[in-house]
Amino acid sequence: MLNETEQREIEAEAAAYPHRRSACIDALNIVQRQRGWISDESVKDIAAFLAMTPAEVDAVATFYNLIYRRPVGRTVIHLCDSISCWVMGCGQLCAHLRRTQGIGMGDTTADGQFTLLPIQCLGACDHAPAVMIDGELQADLDPPRLDALLREHAAKNSRDASEPRAPSPEPSPWRSH
Ligand code: FES
Repeated sequence: MLNETEQREIEAEAAAYPHRRSACIDALNIVQRQRGWISDESVKDIAAFLAMTPAEVDAVATFYNLIYRRPVGRTVIHLCDSISCWVMGCGQLCAHLRRTQGIGMGDTTADGQFTLLPIQCLGACDHAPAVMIDGELQADLDPPRLDALLREHAAKNSRDASEPRAPSPEPSPWRSH
């Protein structure tokens, strides 16, 4: 069931559109921000709230690769595997993550810290290879720099885990495929 915060935030988005269903991607973002991913139950709840079918909501959720239909780690690494990054060594980064973190594409580390997912061109081809880590673009990467970034994120995750949960931020304006 959608909680009060989710319902209120989704309602505010829906009010801005002529049709409630137009707020579907906003609703998915809102629920994912609260819960970390979109379960089948959440798909059904969003569908009921926006007068859609679960299949319609699922189609939107699975179209956008920043909506997660399975649980993910605290930090999500989107590794670009399009042509420029492929030529410039994304495979080397992928092999490095397998060796150091024990994860391949689609996997989450055993401690729940990192999930590795593929993504298409991030628009930083002239600075390939590029990744997006928790929504931040990182370019000109090599294994040592990637390790340093992951250490920073692991430290931030453990700081966040030891602090009281902050109020939910405003919905992100991104619309990404
Ligand atoms: S191909 Fe990776 S950023 Fe364009």
